[in-house]
Amino acid sequence: MVEKSTNDFEKINIFSADEFRDMGHQMVDMLADYLAQAQSDTAQETIPFISPAEQLAYWQADFDIQEPLLDTYRHVLDRSIKLHNPRYIGHQVAAVAPVTSIAGMMSDILNNGVGVYEMGLAANAIEKVLIDFMNQQIGYPAEAGGIFTSGGTLANLTALLTARKVKAPTNVWTEGSNEKLALMVSEAAHYCIDRAARIMGLGDQGIIKIPTDNQYRMRTDLLPEYLAKAKANGLTVFAIVGCSCTTSTGSFDDLSAIAEFASKENLWFHVDGAHGGGIAMSDKYKHYVAGIERSDSITIDYHKMMLTPSLVTSVLYRNALDSFKTFAQKAEYLWESSDSTEWYNSGKRTFECTKNMMCLKVYSILKAHGKNTFAKNNEHLFDSARLLARLINERTSFELLIKPQANIVNFRYIAKETDNLNDITDRIRTQLIEEGLFYIVSVVVDGQKYLRCSVMNPLTEEKHFVALLDHLERIGKAILS
Ligand SMILES: Cc1ncc(COP(=O)(O)O)c(C=O)c1O
Repeated sequence: MVEKSTNDFEKINIFSADEFRDMGHQMVDMLADYLAQAQSDTAQETIPFISPAEQLAYWQADFDIQEPLLDTYRHVLDRSIKLHNPRYIGHQVAAVAPVTSIAGMMSDILNNGVGVYEMGLAANAIEKVLIDFMNQQIGYPAEAGGIFTSGGTLANLTALLTARKVKAPTNVWTEGSNEKLALMVSEAAHYCIDRAARIMGLGDQGIIKIPTDNQYRMRTDLLPEYLAKAKANGLTVFAIVGCSCTTSTGSFDDLSAIAEFASKENLWFHVDGAHGGGIAMSDKYKHYVAGIERSDSITIDYHKMMLTPSLVTSVLYRNALDSFKTFAQKAEYLWESSDSTEWYNSGKRTFECTKNMMCLKVYSILKAHGKNTFAKNNEHLFDSARLLARLINERTSFELLIKPQANIVNFRYIAKETDNLNDITDRIRTQLIEEGLFYIVSVVVDGQKYLRCSVMNPLTEEKHFVALLDHLERIGKAILS
């Protein structure tokens, strides 16, 4: 007699190809409608803001509601910020090229692990093609290499671990260290550099923050003095990080000057180009990263300026062999030798063991829209920021913090002489977000609060900037009246 199964798992039609087909078609229709609506002139809401408590209560109740999943997705859409709306001018996250979503569907279904060749047959090769392409765009030599990894934060940590392995006098990976190691970076760098240094056990003293000039770029003239001070304090500096660009103000450090210093002092030179590294591909603006080809490693996020969904990042290495030094891990179930330097077992060089087929999204954009798409997008977004800055400057009610270098513009409403500008800036932004038409963020620079726009959506045009400034003026006037 066949025993009756008490497990009804098999009855659930999890793997139904027909259901997937049907739902997939409906989903594509829904997302295509979203795209068309978000980009249209009639689009209204960019952010449907409600309090976190209200949001949580909604989803707690929703969890027990039986309904077609497509209805649930519609609610997710209604309750999410819309990056494709040209009035989204907020954080540095891409309005993605829709083709990446198609690629995402494929990589999710295939679920190839990519860390080893057999689990990422096509993906490991595609990664190499893209890394070679990026290195050539940057101007790295033929022996360059690199990896794909999950985000700029992890990429910077990976590169700094490589730096320590290559430049520190002791092998910390195998022996640990009592040595006081340190790295140098601008005080305006993204916090993930500080975090990486602390994860690496460098402590307070191990992250030497170099002051910035009035455009928030590293004061490279101070480097010899800061290095001498570090040495006098018993520190061994092994790396210096250049920002291309900083997060708050979009400022580009002088990479040529840093390269010169790093070469003279035998330091690893890493560029945090998570946001602005891609501008190396633009003939018009590549002067901002002059000298980038002299770095030892570069972090570049595709999910910021390269139209790609998060998280997709590369660490590029001027010498591919360095990337194999970061981690030395035995994993007999994955690869036979931890010493060999084959490009196709990418997990040897990344934090990830199982890794998403993230490269497919980047590959899809370049194949579908052309190999100059990233250059054009970066350039266009930089142009747009200059346009916004000009429009701000034309109005006496606003003050620009600095002339934008990248696509990041900081400014504030100053229509009236008042000593509580920070509070007014806060109130203006809060009201803007609650109204929901536009999304911009804020930033504190030198103790002063500014409204902050990152122009991320290539569809954001002059009419949207004008409407934003009109809107801000209206809110500002009402607050001050
Ligand atoms: C300059 C810079 N570096 C690193 C990061 C961190 O990147 P991710 O968010 O991909 O971890 C950011 C994020 O905004 C950044 O602006």
